[in-house]
Amino acid sequence: MAAPDPAETATALQKELLQAIVDHVPAMICFLNAEGRFQWVNRAWREHLGWSLQDMAARDMLAEFYPGAREREQMVALMRAADSQWLDCRTRIRSGETVDTAWAFVRLSDGSTIGIGQDVSERKEAERTLRMNESQLRQSQKMEAIGRLAGGVAHDFNNLLTSILGHTELMLGELAPGHPLREDIGEVRHAAERAADLTSQLLAFSRKQVIEPRVLELNTAIGHIMGMLRRLIGEHIELVPALDPTLGRVLADPGQIEQVIVNLVVNARDAMPEGGRLRIETANVVLDAAFADTHVGALPGPHVMLAVIDEGVGIDPEIQQHIFEPFFTTKDKAKAKGTGLGLATVYGIVKQSGGYVAVDSTPGTGTTMRVYLPLAVVMPLPSAPAPAPEDRSTAGTETILLVEDEDSVRGLTRRILARAGYTVLTARDADEALRVSAQYDETIDLLLTDVIMTGLSGPRLSETLIGLRPTMSVLFISGYNEDTILRQGVLRQGVAYLQKPFTPAALMRRVREVLDERRGRLEGKARAAG
Ligand SMILES: Nc1ncnc2c1ncn2[C@@H]1O[C@H](COP(=O)(O)OP(=O)(O)OP(=O)(O)O)[C@@H](O)[C@H]1O
Ligand SMILES: [Mg+2]
Repeated sequence: MAAPDPAETATALQKELLQAIVDHVPAMICFLNAEGRFQWVNRAWREHLGWSLQDMAARDMLAEFYPGAREREQMVALMRAADSQWLDCRTRIRSGETVDTAWAFVRLSDGSTIGIGQDVSERKEAERTLRMNESQLRQSQKMEAIGRLAGGVAHDFNNLLTSILGHTELMLGELAPGHPLREDIGEVRHAAERAADLTSQLLAFSRKQVIEPRVLELNTAIGHIMGMLRRLIGEHIELVPALDPTLGRVLADPGQIEQVIVNLVVNARDAMPEGGRLRIETANVVLDAAFADTHVGALPGPHVMLAVIDEGVGIDPEIQQHIFEPFFTTKDKAKAKGTGLGLATVYGIVKQSGGYVAVDSTPGTGTTMRVYLPLAVVMPLPSAPAPAPEDRSTAGTETILLVEDEDSVRGLTRRILARAGYTVLTARDADEALRVSAQYDETIDLLLTDVIMTGLSGPRLSETLIGLRPTMSVLFISGYNEDTILRQGVLRQGVAYLQKPFTPAALMRRVREVLDERRGRLEGKARAAG
């Protein structure tokens, strides 16, 4: 037997080496002859793409992989050049799915080519997530900035509106019933009321509304306003509730939640001028870490979901970025069809309640708006106090120390209270209030003070004064709930509060309530002592 030819052995070894590599690398490898026909493919190729060499024999594989003409042309150019440049593209596999791949082709000396491909789904997915996070982060920063702006504007407007509304009210009180100016002043009041309405929506958007959250059941809240919703949407739209009877409870302000539902439903109605179906769904959902990672502002954990689903016109992707901004509307502003505050309000309210709102829309098919509110950890909360009877007298003879740095609001408030019979001491800031109090020997029944003032804040002033006059009651006024005492927009128990802009009637009612409460407290104490 002749000794093995060393050259032959080397060739065999090389073949073996090549075969081992080709069979075991995770890359997809194919070999095409000079005419571009598949000669063989490796295992990774078969596993990733699902096709075997036999299956491919009678098919136009380029058309299978790249049904789109543009992608196909790109691929043909890549194979022709065969210059080992990588191309990212999406390849359709045998199951019909499309996967993210990258391909490179290398020409051999006889004109045949080797194609090498990788599955790059994971990298692509990471890139997409990163892009989405960046754009969502930008979006949420933008909303923060607009929120601060809106909150500031609303704060100043509330002072102005308090003055306008109060003075018109005073004028109306002075004019005889048939006076020709009554109508004009009535118009001023009407306009100011509408402006107050707008500012209150801006406050909601900027999460500066003072709220009274309760543990509540979303299904019940929806049930309460179902009749109103049906009237709102009209007969051409079918309202279909799909409420989960096992729904958990949430901690939110009932008035605000109604506002959220109404705003979403009205938008859904407007999106279906020709009619259609409007679904309101509720469900318990758990947001996972992946959701929270890709949705800036969402927190993982158990939530209660409210979805309002329409079959309307849908929202273009470019428009979707703006719909939560205040005053963004595609409706006719001139015809007062939309002010663009509906979703801004929803956004603010949901954020203030610790939740998340998501839009999912396909132009021409419809829109789903989903609101996620964190599941409440239920501890029994005190139920709402019974509303005060309306016909109670609002006059009084007590002494009130009024502290307010806005001249027109202070003057107005003093006039309203003095007319109702109260003795009113005034101060423009905390320092002056302390001086006034020091010089006044008799009882001061109520401290009526702005929350935010230059110098000492209202709450700090009240602490000092209560130290000196322990039986004095306190009522805070503000258009804004920035202060620590009203932290996070949630009223601390036992703190009386009046929100600007207020009408004279609301002011007198609130002052009376606080004073009556005080009287009850003092009488109780006296009985206990005697
Ligand atoms: N369900 C929906 N279908 C289609 N487009 C919608 C839907 N909801 C909102 N939009 C779009 O988002 C915009 C902003 O909505 P938003 O509720 O804030 O304001 P508006 O409805 O225009 O006015 P307003 O609610 O103040 O009366 C709308 O003008 C509309 O273009
Ligand atoms: Mg709206």
